[in-house]
Amino acid sequence: MTSSYTSSFSPPSSPLSIGLSLLAFLVPLTYFSYRQFVSKYVPKGPIVVPAEDHKQPVKTMSIMQPPKEVNAPKDDVFTKEELKKFDGSDPEKPIYVAIKGTIFDVSHKRDVYGAGKSYNIFAGKDGSKGLGKSSLNPEDAVADYSDLDEGARKVLDDWYIFFEKRYSIVGKIEG
Ligand code: HEM
Repeated sequence: MTSSYTSSFSPPSSPLSIGLSLLAFLVPLTYFSYRQFVSKYVPKGPIVVPAEDHKQPVKTMSIMQPPKEVNAPKDDVFTKEELKKFDGSDPEKPIYVAIKGTIFDVSHKRDVYGAGKSYNIFAGKDGSKGLGKSSLNPEDAVADYSDLDEGARKVLDDWYIFFEKRYSIVGKIEG
């Protein structure tokens, strides 16, 4: 009796079968190499951002000055006219900026609040409305922010927090 068994393996003969055999070999090899790489170098679980990062408002992330030590708040009362004297025009005097009636000493940023500098519009006054509206128009740099919508009030509050963390409070505006 002759055996009916014949080997199912026959060496690849055409370019197509050579290609298929190569694929059958390379695909699992690539997959297992990838798995090895992932288990070795990619950390498991969620990527944890340090809690400190969450405290920073988005807009202060890179270009803005970082928070700094501030002095204990003072509660001296200034009239608008008195506050005006601290608008950066006298290099001997400190520069003050008020937000929602609270006055901050911004003297260490004379480069931005000093005379002729980008944000001098807010110096020596309360320009809350302009801050809330993100506007540098002189007519917006006023204390009355009552017509700001909810979003603009939030922007204004974020500025307050920004200043609180960087500038010492020297007092408040009368009234
Ligand atoms: C193209 C538009 C603007 C650009 C490129 C810009 C750029 C900057 C940069 C680079 C700083 C950091 C300055 C520093 O700390 O040295 C800054 C701060 C600031 N910007 Fe602007 N700004 C723009 C528009 C505005 C507008 C429309 C407002 C109006 C509210 C504004 C208000 C401020 C304020 C209050 C600060 C904080 C300065 C501080 O006390 O450190 N900016 N801006």
